[in-house]
Amino acid sequence: MTTVGALLDVRDLTVDYPVRHARTPYRAVDSVSLSIAPGETLGLVGESGSGKSTICLSILGLAPVTAGTITFAGQDITRATRAQRRTIGKDLQVVFQDPYSSLNPARTVGQALSEPLEVHEKLPAAQRRDRVAQMLERVGLPPDAASRYPAGFSGGQRQRIAIARALMLSPRLVICDEPVSALDLSVQAQILNLLADLQRDLSVAYLFVSHDQAVVTYMASRIKVLTPPSEGPDHEKKPDHN
Ligand SMILES: Nc1ncnc2c1ncn2[C@@H]1O[C@H](COP(=O)(O)OP(=O)(O)OP(=O)(O)O)[C@@H](O)[C@H]1O
Ligand SMILES: [Mg+2]
Repeated sequence: MTTVGALLDVRDLTVDYPVRHARTPYRAVDSVSLSIAPGETLGLVGESGSGKSTICLSILGLAPVTAGTITFAGQDITRATRAQRRTIGKDLQVVFQDPYSSLNPARTVGQALSEPLEVHEKLPAAQRRDRVAQMLERVGLPPDAASRYPAGFSGGQRQRIAIARALMLSPRLVICDEPVSALDLSVQAQILNLLADLQRDLSVAYLFVSHDQAVVTYMASRIKVLTPPSEGPDHEKKPDHN
């Protein structure tokens, strides 16, 4: 059963990773359900290895879903094709933990931010530049940021860039997987406040993942706590990633 009116509804999601030289795969997510209403923040907490990132990747179509369904904006996206993913991408975006690796070092910030507009809105260059400038201002970056490369920015500024890029197309849901965990404490607070302000302005929903209970309590109206999948005889030892 899905939750009526939910923007995102994950039902009984189960994800198994294959294990090299083993017949039994590793069950990283075991029958997890959650839902997010439009404009809401759902916090997702749980100890390391409890499957938080795997749930995020499943929603993005990047993890091997064994069972369960993922419904987004009324559409079953559990096994969406590439073409469907591209369409969904307008409404479903992600901000990862590591702003250093999530930005292409060879592209200017302006190029990174204008790419989604090229792909989805086919705007003329001048209008794209305006939209990029507006967004840079909105996330608290200087106007000349557009012509600079990610390497020239601090960790907090890079996370502002990643947030700006995620918001370029006014998505309905942004998955934030530990978005401040790599940042200094004072910078964490600034980024959390920015995300909260943007949510108020844009009524975007967040799936907000953190291992830090205080951060999640600050950001989320509801919290889902994950426990690691039940450890049967096959799961007593964690396999290496393969
Ligand atoms: N590609 C993979 N192949 C095999 N096992 C994996 C893979 N990715 C993750 N795992 C395992 O699945 C389990 C869940 O990992 P996941 O990264 O989802 O946890 P997490 O809750 O995000 O942890 P953290 O708080 O450390 O980020 C872990 O035991 C992990 O080792
Ligand atoms: Mg994780």
